[in-house]
Amino acid sequence: MKPVKIGVLGLGTVGGGTVNVLKRNAKEISRRAGREIVVTCASARDLTRKRSCDTQDIRLSTDPYEIINDSEIDIVLELIGGTSLAKELVLQAIANGKHVVTANKALIALHGNEIFSAASKANVIVAYEAAVAGGIPIIKAIREGLSGNHINWLAGIINGTGNFILTEMRDKGRDFNDVLKEAQALGYAESDPTFDVEGIDAGHKLMILASIAFGIPLQFENVYTEGITKITRADVEYANELGYRIKHLGIARKTKAGIELRVHPTLIPERRLLANVDGVMNAVLVNADAVGPTLYYGAGAGAEATASAVIADVVDVARALTLNSINKVPHLAFQEDSIADLHILTHEQIETAYYLRLTVEDKPGTLAQITQILAQQNISIEAILQKEPLPDQTLVQIIMLTQKTIEKEMDDAISTIKNLSSVTGQVTRIRLETLG
Ligand code: HSE
Repeated sequence: MKPVKIGVLGLGTVGGGTVNVLKRNAKEISRRAGREIVVTCASARDLTRKRSCDTQDIRLSTDPYEIINDSEIDIVLELIGGTSLAKELVLQAIANGKHVVTANKALIALHGNEIFSAASKANVIVAYEAAVAGGIPIIKAIREGLSGNHINWLAGIINGTGNFILTEMRDKGRDFNDVLKEAQALGYAESDPTFDVEGIDAGHKLMILASIAFGIPLQFENVYTEGITKITRADVEYANELGYRIKHLGIARKTKAGIELRVHPTLIPERRLLANVDGVMNAVLVNADAVGPTLYYGAGAGAEATASAVIADVVDVARALTLNSINKVPHLAFQEDSIADLHILTHEQIETAYYLRLTVEDKPGTLAQITQILAQQNISIEAILQKEPLPDQTLVQIIMLTQKTIEKEMDDAISTIKNLSSVTGQVTRIRLETLG
């Protein structure tokens, strides 16, 4: 059978890793795909740059349109990132009848609905396993492996850079910016690292996971995102003392009232497997009605880990090229006419527990005032920790864990507490999930 011909857009970390793995594992991959898979051409912005991959047999160009307009190419790998040029190229490749494999989570989260609709009309496949959690085959697991289940919720550590930073801060007491620089040097961080530390990257990935878990359209604008920049070493230590770890989680939950879509730092009990996912590793815990909880763990970023997911998609497309299109797996796991427009909750409507840290005057009645405000909002306290004041200081740190409440109630309580004369500065609030 004729080899499947690949054109690669972008020879950066993921592009380079993909070319290398395709070459190194060529025999094994073609045994799985049933055909040989050959990279014939690739585009890169700067052809003079030293590459991590061997490009000897690959036709190189600085013009990506040369690749997508090449009539010989069966599958285009979009590995340039970003959403403007990448979107144009992907839509044009689809219009040219090419199948597309992409690692671009922002592109899918923001423009996936339009891209999949164009792909369906053109009868081509757009595959995006590498867009979420790097090398973990989580898209395939949810879309195909769990298709007999009703998915209740999922929670994941889906940004390697953020997890690497939180882990290094906790274990080695390292400085935030110093760890971020290392993540950039290792090729984990986004070109705009605020995407990592402000939760945007995790938000993109969560949206994709929620879409295929619940059969809803992609709608990144409805994802609540909060990053890790405000987490201090003190919070990490206090959480530890209370038996929790702070992790940056993406959570999607189907409730009677609607769907929760949220990304934020979260306290989780230290005995949970998810609490022990460290460094650049990612993990996604999926709770489904028939199978119960399942956990998917692996490298969430990096050249060859992400290449592993890109190539799995290439193999899927190569297999599908010999099938009738009726057998194709739907892009968002559910058939196109079954995508449901379920109500998405605002972050004020979500229900979760909280860790609160306050700096207060060490005098009688302070704690009573605070607990009264919480009681007025119907918020129940789970635990309280008061740190001894430093010598010559009249201010103390109070840490509280609350039971679950609706976020609006907590917002109202915090704004009242902040106005108390005995409370100084900001009230730190981190959401807490027991993931039971
Ligand atoms: N910047 C991303 C991360 C890369 O750190 O997880 C993989 O999507």
